[in-house]
Amino acid sequence: MSKIPTYSKSYWTEYIDRKEAHSYPQAVKDNETEIVIIGAGIVGVLSAYELAKRGRKVILLEADRILYGTTGHTTAKITAQHGLFYDELIRKSGEEAAKLYYKANMDGLNYIRQVIKEENIDCDFSEQTAYTYAVTDEYDEKIKAEFKAYEKLGIDGELLSELPLPFQIKSAVSMNGQAQFHPLKLLSNLLVSFEQLGGAIYEQSPVKDIEEDDSGLHAILKNGHRISGQKIIIATHYPFYDMLGLYFSRLHPMRSYIVAATVEEEIPDGMYISADQPTRSLRYTDYDGRKLLLIGGESHKTGQSEDELSCYNALESFTKDYFTVDDFPYRWSAQDLVTLDKLPYIGQYSSSKENLFIATGFGKWGMSNGAVASMLLCDLATDQENPYEELFSPSRSETNLQSASTFVKENANVAKELIKGKISPDDVDPNDLKPNEGGHIKFKGKRAGAYRDENGSLCILDTTCTHMGCEVNWNSGERSWDCPCHGSRFDTNGEVLEGPAVDPLKKLN
Ligand code: FES
Repeated sequence: MSKIPTYSKSYWTEYIDRKEAHSYPQAVKDNETEIVIIGAGIVGVLSAYELAKRGRKVILLEADRILYGTTGHTTAKITAQHGLFYDELIRKSGEEAAKLYYKANMDGLNYIRQVIKEENIDCDFSEQTAYTYAVTDEYDEKIKAEFKAYEKLGIDGELLSELPLPFQIKSAVSMNGQAQFHPLKLLSNLLVSFEQLGGAIYEQSPVKDIEEDDSGLHAILKNGHRISGQKIIIATHYPFYDMLGLYFSRLHPMRSYIVAATVEEEIPDGMYISADQPTRSLRYTDYDGRKLLLIGGESHKTGQSEDELSCYNALESFTKDYFTVDDFPYRWSAQDLVTLDKLPYIGQYSSSKENLFIATGFGKWGMSNGAVASMLLCDLATDQENPYEELFSPSRSETNLQSASTFVKENANVAKELIKGKISPDDVDPNDLKPNEGGHIKFKGKRAGAYRDENGSLCILDTTCTHMGCEVNWNSGERSWDCPCHGSRFDTNGEVLEGPAVDPLKKLN
């Protein structure tokens, strides 16, 4: 049984639900291989496929269901245009780094394009122009600065004053030759090729630790079994394992939302994102012979929104302001991880762990950065050189002032959340909770969390996050308990939906 809440529904994961025979066994005994990959999202699946193609023996492990995590809840744009990004990157990291970052993401896009062609997979891939637009004077200036950065870096794009959108803009910067696709159509088909190449896949097989001895590395499963390999790749989105990597202090989780609408108007080609706040992203995907409009935005720190349902409502209102909506058949949210300098951490886990690799911190750009990560990790795991090793190295120095101030700010935020929960108890009476409602209650004189299901049963949980002890908060949009510190999420029964936590919340009734 999936642990993913059914309240929101992703268009991408519905494809997997409809596919028969989509299920893989649990790992229920010790096993050994050459390379173990933990996490079966875009990074894990692409890496598994590529390594198997290079003749390596690979075992792919997934804690929950394959492709149901962040990759199943994306906007699925494959682009090197990451909103307003390159002007800031040049100022923070220099022109060379900015050029490399653009090139890496274009290589990621081209890698996906090549795999689709080689494997002949129909995954609704289409080439699209990406646009970042401004509707206010303040952001108009920033768009112009961004375009100057494009010119400096030789990025193929234009400065525009009009777009085929149903509202006025001040300006926009375009990036040509980008793409969109259905990620789960691609990745689920690649898993078939991976198995044909001799790879093994296990789902519902969470890993709780990694051990090392003279014989190699061992992924220790929650059920106690060991999957051993010479090398291990951690592709779990948030690294569940943090020995010496200090990733918890260098990543912060953000949630954002998507609503999908069928509308009467013709939806233009192109992928659009606003520079102004609140962010609005617009694109379409193919949908049973017509187009489905995807509107995204409303991001906030995980576990720190007053009312997640209002995020969906705001996106629906925006859509209705500009389109004649027939229906909103899908809506979903995603969790993204942002690093101190906004560049992903991809590479050797730490200088003392030469056979352990990691990829995390893609911000909102997991499709192109995920492909970059798989290419880089496969090269590192097979002792080949890669031009992006230094740029994305998790051990890179992030000594610029902006990164330092981000470090201080984010860790002060975590510290505040660590002490906050238990000193300001809410006073909700559990009898006041209606079916499908959740929230903090007082239980036996202490603060607890409760959810009343549609049959009226109450599940009361200790809301102390099992990762490092922050107080989890109720997420009304997804009906989950979300941790404001490092983004762990738990379902209404306390089971882990997203790490880094590996243990469930304690049940109190
Ligand atoms: Fe770290 Fe909850 S995720 S304390």
